[in-house]
Amino acid sequence: MTLPTTLDQMIAPMTSDHLPQVMAIDAQCYPLPWSRDVYEAELARPHDRLYVIAGPDQVVGHAGVAFEKDEAHITTVTVSPDCRGQGIGARLFLALALAACRRNTSLALEVAADNPAAQALYRRFGLAPVGIQRGYYANMGLSPDAVVMRVDDIQQPDYVNRLTRIAVELDCA
Ligand SMILES: CC(C)(COP(=O)(O)OP(=O)(O)OC[C@H]1O[C@@H](n2cnc3c(N)ncnc32)[C@H](O)[C@@H]1OP(=O)(O)O)[C@@H](O)C(=O)NCCC(=O)NCCS
Repeated sequence: MTLPTTLDQMIAPMTSDHLPQVMAIDAQCYPLPWSRDVYEAELARPHDRLYVIAGPDQVVGHAGVAFEKDEAHITTVTVSPDCRGQGIGARLFLALALAACRRNTSLALEVAADNPAAQALYRRFGLAPVGIQRGYYANMGLSPDAVVMRVDDIQQPDYVNRLTRIAVELDCA
């Protein structure tokens, strides 16, 4: 499966050069944003990590996924506060989901229990709540509880068709 052309134009692999802009967005979004060292460590693992930015000239969002044994685990999806509601989060997620369904059978993540916008985005991609992790975000200034969301069988035609439908809706097909 190749990335839709327009998605390819908007979404690019994250490099160290993007980090000042990525971290500036995080500083507006998270009480305890990742340090440069954490990002550098993630970028040093291209065999089992994928980090992407939405841009490409000015970074307006970023997202990442860890490819584990059977599961692709989303590590972050973040859009600059002044650029939300334009489908950028969905395009970032689509890029990760397309990569995940080439490598893994499931896609999962944790999301703060009081984050309806992110949960709506993940439901669009077929993820459903499968549990609660109490205190997951303790000391982070967010709702302390995380909802675990997951979708299985992402290599099956039904899920690939869902991604294709979303790509059409986003004008990325
Ligand atoms: C979650 C986030 C990445 C979404 O980015 P975005 O570019 O606004 O996403 P999109 O425009 O593609 O879609 C946003 C979806 O949220 C929905 N939404 C927005 N605000 C909402 C709210 N308060 N309640 C419910 N849904 C909401 C939109 O309707 C849209 O859903 P739809 O596509 O079904 O209509 C962005 O809000 C963000 O960066 N939040 C802060 C960081 C964060 O919490 N990341 C998630 C960590 S798990």
